[in-house]
Amino acid sequence: MDPNIVISNFPEIRLPEPSVKGSVTVEEAILMRRSTRGFVDQPLTLDILSQLLWSLQGSTGKRSRTTPSAGGTYPLEIIAIVGTFGVTNLSAGSYLYNPESNGLKAYKSGDLRDQLAKVSLEQSAITAAPVNLVIVADYERTRSRYRNRTERYVHMEAGHAAQNLYLQAAALGLGTTAIGAFDDTGVKDLLSIPGDFQPLYIMPVGVPAKPNA
Ligand SMILES: Cc1cc2nc3c(=O)[nH]c(=O)nc-3n(C[C@H](O)[C@H](O)[C@H](O)COP(=O)(O)O)c2cc1C
Repeated sequence: MDPNIVISNFPEIRLPEPSVKGSVTVEEAILMRRSTRGFVDQPLTLDILSQLLWSLQGSTGKRSRTTPSAGGTYPLEIIAIVGTFGVTNLSAGSYLYNPESNGLKAYKSGDLRDQLAKVSLEQSAITAAPVNLVIVADYERTRSRYRNRTERYVHMEAGHAAQNLYLQAAALGLGTTAIGAFDDTGVKDLLSIPGDFQPLYIMPVGVPAKPNA
């Protein structure tokens, strides 16, 4: 998970620059936000994927990201699970997001959505969505500094990131859901997440089957 760990020999995929201008206000996005579990069969573009990843954990300057982090320890990593035809010009598979370079590192190939749903109580939103964004935590980054407050802080940070994604998705006319119910070991095994890392949220994202009210 650590971008310093060599995951594959493929070169990093550079994502398009995220935009900092939108047509929906923060207040409108807050009002429109809903958990969405049904999606139409429509791929996302690389621009949209970049925007979603940026909202979750993107860089906003030197040692600064789109979400706050206790002591700037940044324990969160994001894995994108891309379905077949889930993102235009991107093969199905799992990818690790690198906030510093705004890039993606290919991790595992193939459409993992069915298997991911299987270890997540068969939640159909996971298979219905073109993309699932998984928030993963490395507690050790925070523990060295915050000791017994580590779990509390890391979970708070996952909440900040998830809410950003909810609002960014709403602003783009997309939907998502923060899925917390899954088999930890099953998800870790499937996504080859190292032992001391923990998946916290699976967030399917796509064009809602029914527009938000
Ligand atoms: C910690 C947490 C875990 C959740 N886990 C799931 C889940 O496993 N599956 C799911 O469909 N929704 C899950 N949700 C979404 C809630 O069901 C949803 O937020 C709630 O029904 C309120 O609806 P709203 O988000 O549209 O306002 C979770 C939400 C939170 C905060």
